[in-house]
Amino acid sequence: MTDAIAILDFGSQYAQLIARRVRELQVYCELFPWNTPAERVTAINPKGFILSGGPASVYEVGAPTIPAYVLESGLPVLGICYGMQALTHALGGRVAASTAREYGLAELEVFASNPLIPAGKQPVWMSHGDRIEALPPGFSVIGKSDHSPVAFMADAVRSYFGLQFHPEVHHTPGGKDILGRFILEICQARPDWTPESIIAQGVRRVRDQVGKEMVLSAVSGGVDSTVATAMVQRAIGEQLVAVFVDTGLLRMGEATQVQKALHDRLGVELITVHAEEQFFRSLEGVTLPEHKRRVIGELFIRIFEEQARQLGQPRFLVQGTIYPDVVESSAPDRSQAQRIKTHHNVGGLPDDMEFELVEPLRYLFKDEVRLVGEALGLPADLVWRQPFPGPGLAVRCLGEVTSERIQRLRAADVILTRELAEAGLLRMKSLNDQVSGSAQAFAILLPVRSVGVMGDQRTYQEAIAIRAVTTEDFMTADWARLPYDLLARVANRIVNEVEGVNRVVYDITSKPPATIEWE
Ligand code: XMP
Repeated sequence: MTDAIAILDFGSQYAQLIARRVRELQVYCELFPWNTPAERVTAINPKGFILSGGPASVYEVGAPTIPAYVLESGLPVLGICYGMQALTHALGGRVAASTAREYGLAELEVFASNPLIPAGKQPVWMSHGDRIEALPPGFSVIGKSDHSPVAFMADAVRSYFGLQFHPEVHHTPGGKDILGRFILEICQARPDWTPESIIAQGVRRVRDQVGKEMVLSAVSGGVDSTVATAMVQRAIGEQLVAVFVDTGLLRMGEATQVQKALHDRLGVELITVHAEEQFFRSLEGVTLPEHKRRVIGELFIRIFEEQARQLGQPRFLVQGTIYPDVVESSAPDRSQAQRIKTHHNVGGLPDDMEFELVEPLRYLFKDEVRLVGEALGLPADLVWRQPFPGPGLAVRCLGEVTSERIQRLRAADVILTRELAEAGLLRMKSLNDQVSGSAQAFAILLPVRSVGVMGDQRTYQEAIAIRAVTTEDFMTADWARLPYDLLARVANRIVNEVEGVNRVVYDITSKPPATIEWE
């Protein structure tokens, strides 16, 4: 069993970020709502606990508290923000309610030696209301900031630590080291959560779950379903059959890439259903985005069900569920976010289908999925691909989706992508270096025509919009300041090489108020 850290979530907006930081240290961790039954948390055999921040105030009626088993375990505890206040409250200290929130960058001054943070000053990110007024017995103040007399407290004997600031966000540059010392030195968790060990465990789980039964997989072309399929193939080989529905809505070369990677390279038995015509027929006259998504989703399911029937209705189905999906559906006090658009994926099958699910990526973050994919032998340009909507290019083809318009969009998109790749700006990681965070870039076909002139001829054609964004988490994004020369080259090539397009525009809105996709 790998070593683990249990993170108790008190409703922090940063809870998943804490988990990602721990995983980056190659230590397994799981995120649990604070009131999860003790047996479920202790089942992962934690070597220590991290208590997240949260919006509550410890004296509020119904405020989350630290469950008894945490303090009875004798294991190290790191409380962050609300986690620190809850720790203070539980151990007999006093927390002062404060009307003013401290929010943003602050300077932490550490003045006593301790095992987590070197003495001296460093920038940290604060976001809290209440603060510590009296320390619990056994603790001492180790660091302060201008507005927090107790920004860092410790009881070195019991290995209890409290941080008023957030070590998990990148605005706290020393945060990774702080978490690293807590996890690797104080908790002595071994960094054994590597792609190889993840695969070994995944393979064992899949074999235990399915035995000798046959397993079906719906490959959509996306990273998650491809890696999940590769993992199951590693586990059970010939018991797996994958169905790939070519909707005609994928990017240039994508369908072949998936076939090559899964079938030719990994030996997956792959049935490709050429359903392009069917999809274009069903989309005739459909222009509203939600209507398009529904039509595509339903047709996909019909085709997939038919394949499953022909294959004798296997009992198990591979699903590329990843950890953020699992966490989102169980997080405390997080009301359903407003539905802006249906992120209903092609390949997302309805709940009433009678399959038992095999979810080999259930405990992985997206970056881990990519690393595992590479370790399983999938090509890097497939696993590091940018996000792509389930309904494919239909989302980015505004107005009616026809075969001709999709070809137009695909041709423009590949010009953009290749030029970005040549400039070293395509891989999500490389845009990271310019502005921290990952990025996405693609073309959109607009259903408006305008007048242009080409070789003395009047043209009246459609326009391509280019969208390129930098983003940390895809929840907010800024438009990428791509070099003008690159934009000029892309625009020039698109109007010259793509028939039916005489104008290219660059989208310079951030999200919010816009979204990343146009649809
Ligand atoms: P928006 O447009 O909402 O997109 O700012 C945020 C991110 O989600 C991706 N996206 C999707 N991903 N299925 C997906 O798996 C979908 O239906 C879908 N629609 C949008 C989008 O590309 C961006 O990265």
